[in-house]
Amino acid sequence: MPSLALYDRIASFYDPWSRSVTEDVGFYVERALASGGPVVELAVGTGRIAVPIARAGIRVIGVDSSPGMLGVARVAAESAGVTELVDLRLGDLRDPPVPEDVPLVICPFRSLLHMETESEKLVAARAARSLLVPGGHFVFDVFSPSREDIEETDGRWLEREPGIFERADWDEGARTLSLSIRSGEATTTFELHWLSFPEWLRILDAADFDVDATYGWFDRRPYDGEEDMIFVCAAR
Ligand SMILES: C[S@@+](CC[C@H](N)C(=O)[O-])C[C@H]1O[C@@H](n2cnc3c(N)ncnc32)[C@H](O)[C@@H]1O
Repeated sequence: MPSLALYDRIASFYDPWSRSVTEDVGFYVERALASGGPVVELAVGTGRIAVPIARAGIRVIGVDSSPGMLGVARVAAESAGVTELVDLRLGDLRDPPVPEDVPLVICPFRSLLHMETESEKLVAARAARSLLVPGGHFVFDVFSPSREDIEETDGRWLEREPGIFERADWDEGARTLSLSIRSGEATTTFELHWLSFPEWLRILDAADFDVDATYGWFDRRPYDGEEDMIFVCAAR
């Protein structure tokens, strides 16, 4: 499981690195409230989304393969006074250690793109489907980059936050982004593997989901072929 060690290496500065990513939090909290909970978050990371969901009073089961990220999430839940509502479990999102059935499974911040192949993504979607009560929902976001984005960022170290640098190396043929992150001595590189919109629809159909909505951003504007894709899927 290569992503495990990679995220362990950046767990201590993942939150400062992702500080500017706030637009998705309210969206997922609203979905959690509407579901009534409990919610399973696949690839929960440091609890960036799970802790606000718990603060809204909804129980979250968070699964992640990185003990380092889960350690940061545990501290965040304690600091927010929501330890009782945040249940963190070490495991792989393709085979989540979750015997419970829930009304909502989420996988925010493009985490499904850590699945290398289309068939691995299908395994992950089927795993999410298996956790849902009848009529339950799976909500996640991914991206497919534009040519402009690739041209603007390819192969250049950019200071994303003070003292935290990021470099994107795009392989359009393989549809893989190698993202390197560096802070002081610590550095890591992980890969994200994107797909087209129709390919995602095919995976979701094969995983026994109806797609209720597809948004292009967290303000719920309809998806119109831009980079970001947010899928709201109902278990058939
Ligand atoms: C971009 S972070 C997202 C964290 C969190 N959901 C958020 O929105 O900030 C991706 C997370 O996916 C986790 N991850 C990667 N591959 C995984 C796998 N196969 N099973 C479980 N977690 C995985 C990493 O450890 C990391 O915490």
